[in-house]
Parts: sequence; C-alpha cells; structure tokens
Amino acid sequence: MEQTEVVKPETLDDLIKILHSIFESDCINVEEVQNIMESYESNPQEWMKYAKFDQYRYTRNLVDEGNGKFNLMVLCWGEGHGSSIHDHTESHCFMKLLQGQLKETLFEWPENKSHGDMVQKSQRILQENKVAYINDSIGLHRVENVSHTECAVSLHLYSPPFETCQTFDQRTGHKNAVKMTFWSKYGERTPFETTVSQENN
Ligand code: SIN
Repeated sequence: MEQTEVVKPETLDDLIKILHSIFESDCINVEEVQNIMESYESNPQEWMKYAKFDQYRYTRNLVDEGNGKFNLMVLCWGEGHGSSIHDHTESHCFMKLLQGQLKETLFEWPENKSHGDMVQKSQRILQENKVAYINDSIGLHRVENVSHTECAVSLHLYSPPFETCQTFDQRTGHKNAVKMTFWSKYGERTPFETTVSQENN
C-alpha cells in the first residue's frame, strides 16, 4: 500500500501554508489532513494572539480563510464551557487540541418525528495535540471543557466553510438553525452585531 509522507509543520504559519496547498485540490484525504494537523506541536506563542476568552461562553476566533476552501479558527473554552449538540452542515470538521482537554460526546441523528432523548453513541476525552474528525455521516456532537480549573484551546478546520448549522435539544431531538459568529478575526475583536444572534453555545 502506498504510504503518504507527512511533512511536519514547524510553526502554525507553516501548518497554514501546508493546509493551503492540500486544499487546492477538491478531493480531500481526511487522514492526510488529520496527520498534518496532529504533527504540528502546539506552541502557545504562535496562537496566543487568537486566543480570546469570554467569561460566559466559548469563543470562535478566525485565523485563516483558506482561500475560500476552509475556515481555520481558534476556539477558547473557559471552565465548564460547552457547545450545543450540532451538525456540521455537510462539511469536514477537524478539531485539534492546542491546550488542555475537551470531552466530545457523539450522538445519532434523531429519527424523524422522534420525541425522546437523543441516542448517545460514544464519549471520549481529547488530549493536547490530538486531532478529532467528524462529519454529518458520522453523527452529531457536543464538545465541552468539563474542567473546573483549566481552560482549553482548540484549533478547528471546517471545509467547506459554513456560517449556519443546526443545534439539537438532547431531551427531544428538536432542531434549530443557528448562525455561527466570530468573537474575533485575525486577532481583532469583531464589532458587536446590532441584531440578536443565536449562537451554538
Ligand atoms: C464544536 O465542535 O463544538 C465547536 C462548534 C463551533 O465551531 O462553534
């Protein structure tokens, strides 16, 4: 079997350059992207400028727009912060732990017209530098920083980029379309929206 050689990115900028070249192609090898992201060794000095925390909920901070092929962002999770159960709008989702740990709970898509609790498929703790992957055919997930003492920081790549997703009520399976917003872009706080936005947390 042919082995794909993994180029080790030395810095975050290096990783971004490699991702740009990988995503020039319309055919994405999930394992290749996962390996490249995993082989970048998290260095806080390189991503600190994007790591902006909010007291009440996790933040999404845009790092790179991947020539329109992907969005790369740093998510900052304070103690106890978590996302809603959500889908990924038919995109690939790669999630690398830059600092701390996150719990990922996987759910099955609710059956049409079902009313009861959503079915949990699995649960795992993601460790620093590891990369998780999900898409809609795998299921839905919720991500949480369950620590009471440590914050967590993760690097997410979504391809193609998307601005809305569906969130799900764990008790009923009912869904809701929500707009995803950025707390900052390229290290700068995004202006406050005048309309009320419904976010995924
Ligand atoms: C997550 O996977 O839980 C984060 C979702 C997001 O991009 O806000």
